[in-house]
Amino acid sequence: MTAIRTLGSTGPQVSALGLGCMGMSALYGESDRTESIATIHAALDAGITLLDTGDFYGMGHNELLINEALRTAPAAAREQALTSVKFGALRTVEGAFTGYDGRPAAVKNFAAYSLQRLGTDHIDIYRIARLDPDVPIEETVGAIAELVEAGHVRHIGLSEVGPETIRRAAAVAPISDLQIEYSLISRSIEDTILPVCRELGVGITAYGVLSRGLISGHFTRDRELGPGDFRAMSPRFQGENLRHNLDLVDALRKIAEQKGASVAQIAIAWVLSRGADIVPLVGARRRDRLAEALGALDVTLDAADLAAIEEAVPAGAAAGPRYPENQMAHLDSER
Ligand SMILES: NC(=O)c1ccc[n+]([C@@H]2O[C@H](COP(=O)([O-])OP(=O)(O)OC[C@H]3O[C@@H](n4cnc5c(N)ncnc54)[C@H](OP(=O)(O)O)[C@@H]3O)[C@@H](O)[C@H]2O)c1
Repeated sequence: MTAIRTLGSTGPQVSALGLGCMGMSALYGESDRTESIATIHAALDAGITLLDTGDFYGMGHNELLINEALRTAPAAAREQALTSVKFGALRTVEGAFTGYDGRPAAVKNFAAYSLQRLGTDHIDIYRIARLDPDVPIEETVGAIAELVEAGHVRHIGLSEVGPETIRRAAAVAPISDLQIEYSLISRSIEDTILPVCRELGVGITAYGVLSRGLISGHFTRDRELGPGDFRAMSPRFQGENLRHNLDLVDALRKIAEQKGASVAQIAIAWVLSRGADIVPLVGARRRDRLAEALGALDVTLDAADLAAIEEAVPAGAAAGPRYPENQMAHLDSER
């Protein structure tokens, strides 16, 4: 993979697809450590340079996994890899999420621990996972800017925040990218968030481009989901909503077959087609899934293809919101 994109007007150059490592440690049921590391190695070998994680994914597990994968990767691949780390989520020993902490002292504390776990001397892009409603974004971003000044962080990112917060953050320091859900069935960024990002030169790292597997073409109506699986609580994966959403996938499958591509490749290629300032993060945790995702880079969608895709899955076609109600409440981006 040689395709490169630049994150915003001030961010780094990265591979056109990033690897989201969350599912290797949390939220999508069991994962295999050996296969996870092999997947990160295969991604680096294929030219993926952007590895996305969060300190709360498996409460440190994901950063330690990335540490091991980078330590055991060839030096050239390791040197090209960029880490994108989210912080701020507060958890209990049992794993419950209890809020967010964006106070400057907390930001620096989170960063100190992440650097240890990652085994690196800097984090390439650092961002709070959700806005802390009790701390002005200026203070949180200001603290990351001090980490940049000290050489511990290279770039400042944002996650799931709306236009007003993006403007306030960008007034404090250069912002490389906003990480936010964007897919054929999650298009709410298009009206106001994406235009503001473009106006301010803030790139997008898009997550959930397969809607957590729902529009990958591999998800089936009868799939069993374990208790720790996010999808067991996600409204889009329940009952009638799931039936409706998988009907959309069937419509997409017809287009995929005509293109000689898979459903997942069409869904990823569609996000890639939305602008050179958008970098999809694919959540592959196995080498076969990664290979499929990389194949999206070879899929070219012309105007007729895009029209057919939009007809099969019009904006707003999904049944159910993208998060359960209690988690929607944390999304500054949905206000
Ligand atoms: N900022 C935020 O708020 C936020 C929130 C969520 C995620 N993220 C980041 O974004 C990354 C991507 O998100 P995501 O994992 O939800 O995205 P995703 O790519 O929409 O979903 C990943 C899931 O799709 C399934 N899948 C099926 N075919 C696939 C293929 N060819 N390639 C990849 N996955 C395939 C996999 O399930 P199976 O393994 O069961 O096949 C995988 O668990 C995360 O890893 C995380 O780093 C950020």
